[in-house]
Amino acid sequence: MYFYIFPICAVALIVIGCVKIYIKLTTKWARSPTCLLGKTVIVTGSNTGIGFYTALDFAKRGARVILACRDYKKGEAAREEIIKRTDNPNVFLKIVDLSSFESVRAFAQEINKTEDRLDVLVNNAAAALVNDKKTKDGHLLAMQVNYFSLFLLTNLLLDLLKKSQPSRIVNTSSLLARIWTSFSLDKLHKYNGNIEVYAHSKVAIILFTKELAKRLEGSGVTVYSLHPGAVKTDIFRNAEGWAGSFITALFKRLMNFFFKTSEEGAQTTIYCAVEKNIEKFSGHHFEECRRVNDYKRATVPGLGEKLWRESEEVVNLTH
Ligand SMILES: NC(=O)c1ccc[n+]([C@@H]2O[C@H](COP(=O)([O-])OP(=O)(O)OC[C@H]3O[C@@H](n4cnc5c(N)ncnc54)[C@H](OP(=O)(O)O)[C@@H]3O)[C@@H](O)[C@H]2O)c1
Repeated sequence: MYFYIFPICAVALIVIGCVKIYIKLTTKWARSPTCLLGKTVIVTGSNTGIGFYTALDFAKRGARVILACRDYKKGEAAREEIIKRTDNPNVFLKIVDLSSFESVRAFAQEINKTEDRLDVLVNNAAAALVNDKKTKDGHLLAMQVNYFSLFLLTNLLLDLLKKSQPSRIVNTSSLLARIWTSFSLDKLHKYNGNIEVYAHSKVAIILFTKELAKRLEGSGVTVYSLHPGAVKTDIFRNAEGWAGSFITALFKRLMNFFFKTSEEGAQTTIYCAVEKNIEKFSGHHFEECRRVNDYKRATVPGLGEKLWRESEEVVNLTH
C-alpha cells in the first residue's frame, strides 16, 4: 500500500504544477500603450482587489483617477499607495455606498458639479455572500450593490460621459452569469441563495450593457461587460459561516494557489477601458482580453428593454 503513495503524490504534484503553469501561460495582459493624460476615470470599489489594480494602471497612464469607495480609511490608504507607486498626484477619493440610492445620487451630483469631463467609468464594485440582507431602500443587498446602483450611477453620469466622447463604460460581470441557465425579472427581488442572487445581478449587468449600447449608438460613448477570471481577492470575505469551515478553508487554499493575482485579474477591465479600435464591439462581453460569444439569455428579444424599464422604476430614474 505505502509503495504506491510516493508515485501517487508525485503524479498529483505534477498535475497541479501543470495546471498552474497552464493558468499562468493563458492569462492575457492588456498591452495597449494608451496614454490617459488629460483623461478622467472613475473606478468603483477601487480600494482593493481588481479595482485597486485597475486604478493603479490608469494612474500609471497619467489619468486623473477618482477612487469611488465606501470606506474613507480604506480608500485613503489605497489613494496614498497609488500615488506612492506611480508619482501621479492626481488620484482622488470620493465616498459612495452602493447599498444606498441616496449615496449614489449624492456621489453623481458631486461628480457632475466638480468634474469637467469623464472619459472612463469602471463599474467594478460588488458584494457577494451577504445572504438575504436587505438595504434601506428595500432591495436585496447584493442585487442593489451589484446591479441597481450600477444602473443608477451610470445613468446619472451619462451626460458627462457624452460630453467627453469618445468615452467608455466598463461593467464587471462574472462567468457565473454566463453559466447560469435561467433569468427572469422577478428574480431581481427573490432570495434563492447567495450564488443565485449574485449570478442574477451579473446577468442583469450583461443585459444592461447590451441595452445601453443600443441606446448609446452614435453618441460616442461605448460600453462593455466582462468576466475578470477567477481571481484571488477579498470577494469571498463573507464566506465564513457560508459553508462548513473545512470547505471554506479548503476553498481558500485552492484559491490562493490556482486563482489569478488581482493584477492579472484587472487586465480585461483595463483592456476594455484603453484598447484601441474596440468601439465597434460596444455592448459585447469580454474575457481574457478578447471578445467572447454572447451569453445566450442576453439574446432573448426584448429582455434587455424589460429589464431597463424595471430598473428605472426600482431606482426611480426620472430623466
Ligand atoms: N474575484 C473573482 O474571482 C471574481 C470573479 C468574477 C467576477 N468578479 C467581479 O470583479 C469585481 C471586483 O471584485 P474583486 O474580486 O476585486 O472583489 P473585492 O476585492 O471584494 O472588491 C470589491 C470592492 O467592492 C467594494 N464594495 C462592496 N460593497 C460596496 C458598497 N456597498 N459600496 C461601495 N463599494 C462596495 C468593496 O469595498 P470594501 O473593501 O469597503 O468592502 C471593494 O472595494 C466584482 O464586480 C466581482 O463581482 C470577481
